[in-house]
Amino acid sequence: MLRARGYDIAPSERDADVVLLNTCSVRDLAERKAVGKMNLLAHLKGRKPELVLGYMGCMAQSRGAALAEKQSAVNLVVGTQRFHRVPEYLDEIFARDGGDAIVDVAEESGSESTIKDHVLGTNGDRQVAGFVSIMQGCEMYCTFCIVPYTRGSERSRPIAEIVEEVRRLVEEGVKEVTLLGQIVTSYGRKEIRKKNGKSAFVQLLEAVNEVKGLERIRFTAPHPKGFGDDLVQAYADLPKLCEHAHLPVQSGSNRILKAMNRGYTREWYLRIVDKLRAAQPKIAISTDIIAGFPGETEEEFEQTASLMRDAQFDQAYIFKYSKRQDTPAADMPDQVSEKEKECRNQVILEILNSGMARMNQKLIGQTVEILVEGRSEKAGKRMFGRTRTNKIVFFDGSERHKGELLPVRIERATTITLYGDIAIHNL
Ligand code: 5AD
Repeated sequence: MLRARGYDIAPSERDADVVLLNTCSVRDLAERKAVGKMNLLAHLKGRKPELVLGYMGCMAQSRGAALAEKQSAVNLVVGTQRFHRVPEYLDEIFARDGGDAIVDVAEESGSESTIKDHVLGTNGDRQVAGFVSIMQGCEMYCTFCIVPYTRGSERSRPIAEIVEEVRRLVEEGVKEVTLLGQIVTSYGRKEIRKKNGKSAFVQLLEAVNEVKGLERIRFTAPHPKGFGDDLVQAYADLPKLCEHAHLPVQSGSNRILKAMNRGYTREWYLRIVDKLRAAQPKIAISTDIIAGFPGETEEEFEQTASLMRDAQFDQAYIFKYSKRQDTPAADMPDQVSEKEKECRNQVILEILNSGMARMNQKLIGQTVEILVEGRSEKAGKRMFGRTRTNKIVFFDGSERHKGELLPVRIERATTITLYGDIAIHNL
């Protein structure tokens, strides 16, 4: 939107006239990072008073005017449903020289349709993988989570509009799309009726699967409860749907799952894992874990550790429970100490790492398809790509491989990293 008005992306924040921080509120650490970053930017502004600074995203939504009151260098605070107004607010700020910060955290109907016209890449660079917002909001009300309060109620874009956007991305060279939303498995449940036993989300996957030239479909973030038989079957039926399912379990204890308001049990969850593996034997499964939810006892934590061993995840994101203001869990008794949370986090991480090391070793010698995304800053500046199972593989290649689907043979593996060579095919 800003580019359409003649703005350009600055090579560094020192050269910028406007710096907008997009923020996350899911955990306290993310919020502290954003505040710290804004303090650094305020320093910059000390030397360049005309610099315009703004907060966007979930933290802007939940804290609103308080952010500008605490940090006087801030000119703009725009919440999650109003980001499309940023260009006009900037005009206003530039027009009037100084004055109070503009704060807009209002709701807006139809805001789910405002994330479009993606700017691909930062320097006119060709982008290989694209993101398409399909819905916003969440009404699951997990007791630890702030998202229902920062993102509002669930609302979805129509299937035809999403398919059209995917088509445009493909025309621009994109081969893989990730369908985005706070809770994508709830997609369209208010707006679109089930058809032949298929949920709106599965109908959407089928429609996107039909887009010619598109190679791969991913989605995030889902809820395990959304993995009905129709979605499980989609992994068997839809060739473009990547063999990867993110199934955030959070805990392996039924009492804790109930206290979290997750709506499933450990047994139910493990059955979904089994069903997915039966439908698509190559599927990789990843998860999210919260260590030290209020009231979690040693035995209950042990249930999570045992679930980690039982489920054999390909990847897991492990978080120490973080108190979020105005969520039900924040006021629950028996909050777990920081030290204990750290310790539990470490135990889960070790189980994950030993499992991943074993799985990665098994991949050595196999040939897998990767979509080449570009050159890495790390790993000896090798080129890298992602497998359909969402694993990153580094290889010696050249820029011209970017955007290609390549077969690579896995030659070497560390706990978390895979190295491969381009496999010569058709021989
Ligand atoms: N504390 C710790 N982790 C959290 N998550 C969400 N809210 C919290 C919280 N208050 C984690 C969950 C979720 C992921 C996106 O972030 O594991 O799946």
